Amino acid sequence: PRSIFFSRHGESLYNVMGKLGGDSDLSARGKQYAKSLPLLIATHLGNSEQLTVWTSTMKRTIATAEHLTYPKLAWKALDELDAGVCDGMTYEEIAEQYPEDFANRDEDKFNYRYRGGESYRDVVLRLEPVIMELERQRNILIIGHQAILRCIYAYFMNHSHEKLPYIKIPLHTVIQLTPRAYACEEKRFKVDI
Ligand code: F6P
Repeated sequence: PRSIFFSRHGESLYNVMGKLGGDSDLSARGKQYAKSLPLLIATHLGNSEQLTVWTSTMKRTIATAEHLTYPKLAWKALDELDAGVCDGMTYEEIAEQYPEDFANRDEDKFNYRYRGGESYRDVVLRLEPVIMELERQRNILIIGHQAILRCIYAYFMNHSHEKLPYIKIPLHTVIQLTPRAYACEEKRFKVDI
């Protein structure tokens, strides 16, 4: 059977500082994760199975895929949810500077759209062509971002819009989904660094 593998990028410098968005490089731990991926993927991809790696156009996903030797494709549609005026801020800074927005987001996280940015609903729409292509392909590994992978995971696992923005997609973990007759089988491989 074919598999869809996916992982967030390795820890970035912005992750370390608790900042949203941006286009920062990987931290030392993030680079270690990138180095661990080739063996991890080879171990769980069947022998003689082909794989294509999809990344976003951001430095942190491209750097995470750096040591993988499979064909690669960078999709703009896989770039992280655009936090608009809050890009580069921490949650604490947003709560201080935009307290109403912060509360509204908590109220309806799926529909909340950042000022000058996107909502989860917007991201689900922009991912449509990616999902269509995913349905046609054989084995794909997506190196992506937290909000993006929540949307893709929710699509394959039939999670509601209400639950989608809270799905746990931890760093340094590869998730393997294998479509079966009625649902996807899920496996998670965590890398300790
Ligand atoms: O903090 C990492 C990050 O990928 C941000 O770039 C993004 O805004 C956020 O996670 C998405 O998570 P949440 O919707 O829970 O804020």
